[in-house]
Amino acid sequence: MQGEIRKVTGGRDIVGVVFDEDAIAQRVAELGQEIAEFYPEGDLLVIGLLKGSFIFVADLVRRIARPLEVDFMIAASYGTGTTSSGNVRLLYDSGTTLEGKHILLVEDIVESGNTLKRVNTLIEARNPQSLETCTLLDKNRSRRQGVQPRFVGFDAPPDFLVGYGLDHAEDFRHLPYIASIEG
Ligand code: IMP
Ligand code: MG
Repeated sequence: MQGEIRKVTGGRDIVGVVFDEDAIAQRVAELGQEIAEFYPEGDLLVIGLLKGSFIFVADLVRRIARPLEVDFMIAASYGTGTTSSGNVRLLYDSGTTLEGKHILLVEDIVESGNTLKRVNTLIEARNPQSLETCTLLDKNRSRRQGVQPRFVGFDAPPDFLVGYGLDHAEDFRHLPYIASIEG
C-alpha cells in the first residue's frame, strides 16, 4: 500500500485508511437524500468551500435529486501546517445571487468551526432565505462552541486526514479515499 501511495503522492507515509471509497460513496448518497428531503421547495444554492470540498461537492450534488445551483467560495485561514487560526479571508467570492435562496454551505472538514463561522456571517449579510452547513467530516464536535453543521458525513478521529479533497501542503487531494498521515 505505501508503495502504491508513494507513486501518486509526494512520498509522505500514510498511517492508515480511515474511510474507504465504498464507505464514502454510501454516506454521500445518504446525505444527498437527507438534503433533498430537507428542502421540499424553494431555490437551493450549494456553495462549496474550495479547495478541500471540490470532490465532495461533485459527488454530493449528483445525489441531491432536486433542482439546485452550484457555486464556490475560497476562504483561507492564516496559519501554517496542520492547525487553523482564527483569521479567515475570502480569496474568491461566489458570483451568484444569494438573496431569497436556500444556501447550503459545504465544507470538507470542520475543526474549530472558525472558517464556517466567518463565512456564515458573510453569507447571512446577503439575505438568503435560509442558511445551513454540510461537512463531510466533523472533527472535535464535542469541544466546539457555537456553529454546528446541520449535515455531517462522518465524525472524524483527531488525526490529520488527507485525500478525497483534503490536503497536506497541497499534496494528497487526489487520493480516492480518506487516510491519516503522520503529523
Ligand atoms: P476550522 O476553521 O478550524 O474549522 O478548520 C477547517 C479547515 O481546516 C478545513 O477546511 C481544512 O482546510 C483544515 N483542516 C482541519 N483539519 C484538517 C485535516 O485533518 N486535514 C486537512 N485539513 C484540515
Ligand atoms: Mg485546507
